[in-house]
Amino acid sequence: MMEGYLHKMADLTATAAASPNIALIKYWGNRVDPLRLPANGSISMNLDGLEARTRVTFDPSFITDQFILNHHQANSADLSRVSVFLDLVRQMAGSHLYATVESRNNFPIGAGVASSAAAYAALSLAAAKAIGLDLNEIELSRLARRGSGSACRSVPGGFVEWLPGRSDRDSFAVTLAPARHWDLVDCITLISRLPKPVGSTEGHTLAKSSPFQKARVADTDRRLELCRGAILARDFKALSTVVELDSNMMHAVMITSQPTLLYLMPGSITVMQAVIHWRNNGLPVCYTLDAGPNVHVLCPAESAKEVSLRLEQLPGINQVLLAHPGGPAHLIEQI
Ligand code: PMV
Repeated sequence: MMEGYLHKMADLTATAAASPNIALIKYWGNRVDPLRLPANGSISMNLDGLEARTRVTFDPSFITDQFILNHHQANSADLSRVSVFLDLVRQMAGSHLYATVESRNNFPIGAGVASSAAAYAALSLAAAKAIGLDLNEIELSRLARRGSGSACRSVPGGFVEWLPGRSDRDSFAVTLAPARHWDLVDCITLISRLPKPVGSTEGHTLAKSSPFQKARVADTDRRLELCRGAILARDFKALSTVVELDSNMMHAVMITSQPTLLYLMPGSITVMQAVIHWRNNGLPVCYTLDAGPNVHVLCPAESAKEVSLRLEQLPGINQVLLAHPGGPAHLIEQI
């Protein structure tokens, strides 16, 4: 895909950290599945304090790739996804070396906190550095996209927009505003820690089967514009209107796909209804859900304490994690 990149002297090992992101305008469905070229553009906020830390070590003595996830050998599906991704990196570098990938997350995997976004953003940076590829932020974002679409948005920092592009070359994410631009808080309300039954890679392929997907995609530029404007003007009211609408539109597509994808659980609905009620009574707050039951409740930092206290008192809530806007993927010394 990206031949001709300058090689630096490779240390063959490197470690990187990246945050997950919460989509404010969602990516759902691909125009071209294998390249993860999205059906529509999207906007997100990186989540500070939550991170994946990944060390990649290439070694001429290895006869296969290895993937250790949270201290355990990964299952064969996860290993093969990582290996296919490393093939891309090897192809770019003109290398045949296998690698050991060791990754740790400090947040639950597979339940609507985008673990694959953080994982593939960290893996892209660590693998590129270890093998001696000299990639700029755009090139890294393109590479991360191939591992998991939303991972391209965890490469740059702060509030980020994924420009959908028309080809592999022009589909990548850029910072709209740095993390310090606006102190929003995502009160991540954990309803379930169980892995989701249908992962998003499979979910994207079902999007087309919903009669609502065409309408959702056709209306995306309008929502992107509203969201961009709200972020740049730090207008929480405008942001909450478009963010909730966008989340509801994506879940409407999911629920009307064949087969049906129903990620919402009773606890999700309890939180969504409470958020609407609180907002109608003057608290600045809104909800959004990715591909899972957990509800991301957004509010300005001044209201975060009040919002998280209220959330903790609702029935069926496992835990509430608070995350402010986070920075870009970055290299670190140790895992
Ligand atoms: O990057 P993926 O394939 O895990 O897809 C992410 C899809 C959503 O989280 C539901 C929406 C988004 O834009 O992050």
